[in-house]
Amino acid sequence: MEKIVVNGGNPLFGQVEISGSKNAALPIIYACVLVRGKCVLENIPDVSDIRCSFDILRGIGAKIRMITRTTYEVDCTDVEAGRSDYDLVRKIRGSYYLLGSEFGRFGRAKVGLPGGCNFGVRPIDQHIKGFEALGGRVSTEGGYVEIESDRGAVGSNIFFDLSSVGATLNVMIAAATADGVTVIDNAAREPHVVDCANFLNTCGAQISGAGSDVIKIKGVKELHGCTYAIIPDMIEAGSFMVAAVATRGAVKINNVIPKHLESVTAKLIETGADVEEFDDAVMVTSGETIRRTSVKTLPYPGFPTDMHPQMAALLCTAEGTSYINESIFENRFRYVEELRRMGARIKVDGRILVIEGGAPLSPAPVMATDLRGGVAVMIAALTAKGVTEISEINLIERGYDNIVGKMQALGADIRKVTVPDDAQLARAN
Ligand code: EPU
Repeated sequence: MEKIVVNGGNPLFGQVEISGSKNAALPIIYACVLVRGKCVLENIPDVSDIRCSFDILRGIGAKIRMITRTTYEVDCTDVEAGRSDYDLVRKIRGSYYLLGSEFGRFGRAKVGLPGGCNFGVRPIDQHIKGFEALGGRVSTEGGYVEIESDRGAVGSNIFFDLSSVGATLNVMIAAATADGVTVIDNAAREPHVVDCANFLNTCGAQISGAGSDVIKIKGVKELHGCTYAIIPDMIEAGSFMVAAVATRGAVKINNVIPKHLESVTAKLIETGADVEEFDDAVMVTSGETIRRTSVKTLPYPGFPTDMHPQMAALLCTAEGTSYINESIFENRFRYVEELRRMGARIKVDGRILVIEGGAPLSPAPVMATDLRGGVAVMIAALTAKGVTEISEINLIERGYDNIVGKMQALGADIRKVTVPDDAQLARAN
């Protein structure tokens, strides 16, 4: 079993390079299923959700070749529908994009229900509604989602009941090679939706409006290969921005699109930090003291739900009472128990966190409860003087490329260690 050990108390100083966006790379990797030919994808983050996705695609017949650590050639010419490995698919959330891409290419799909971080119920009814609008007959039985159709995917108008990143991307992927025009209304506007549309357009798709709440997709007969670079990861960047402020440091965060970070930047400025924007970097300098603030998570361009746990860790160190209203997921609070072990004074009232700041956090054995919650406890540990051990770090490694090495380069006293797990200890005794 691996753990992360943090000897906290050092401010972070220096520069860090941000990797490619996990949540953009995932739909793009699965969208390669639509393409007969080779796609060269650059700026792929080295994280386990991506490795798992490559394994899923290899299992259905894709040829995937690593060119450099962050560049891969993906050739899905020979893939087959309905063959994906159930146990791999259930490990991650992003595997649900295989539904859209199999349906788009073959007019049918069969994929296990997805996994991913546990935030309470995470329905896929909007994905299903979209596939049905495109002419699919969708059933969910025995742990699988199955789509069948008589004529393949057929263009249609879809009005989503809510803003869903996954449903927007899944339907956009399926519609790219559908017969006719699809209009998605109330579409998610996240930068990863735009990135996937740009990728598909580079392969010959005709998608307009991505980034607004109406996306129009004129189905094309086929897509061709291309070379495409994934956008930088705004959540990784935001996590380093928050860590810089929480540790009272100053960090230049390189390879970012500052526009994608504006909601986080605005909140950090409210806490008293200084954020200077460059073309493709932001310089974040903590204020002398951290002021309280209130945050409400919202779809893009609002404050991202994927930044709320990190922000909670920071606000534990602020003066006064802060509030976080989590409006996207009904239960994204499992990490709060871990912060409490470190002395955080946080109350959960429905979807609202009430954070009494001001008292320094102290070390304790803690665990990652999910991807972003795991980084929140890491940030808390970086601020707490003394040694904190974090377990279940595989959850952090699902979405952060070399986070320990990047933190070390900023002066953090942090390392990954391998310790025997209970079963190994029992055998040794
Ligand atoms: N929702 C439905 N029905 C659906 C789909 C979504 O009710 O069919 C609800 C969800 O339960 C939630 C809201 O709509 O309350 C928004 O969910 P969305 O579909 O946007 O989220 P997702 O596609 O499941 C992706 C990211 C998450 C990120 C959210 C929100 C991937 C693989 N996952 O999830 O990323 O939190 O969008 O931005 O892209 C993470 O990276 O840590 C992570 C959890």
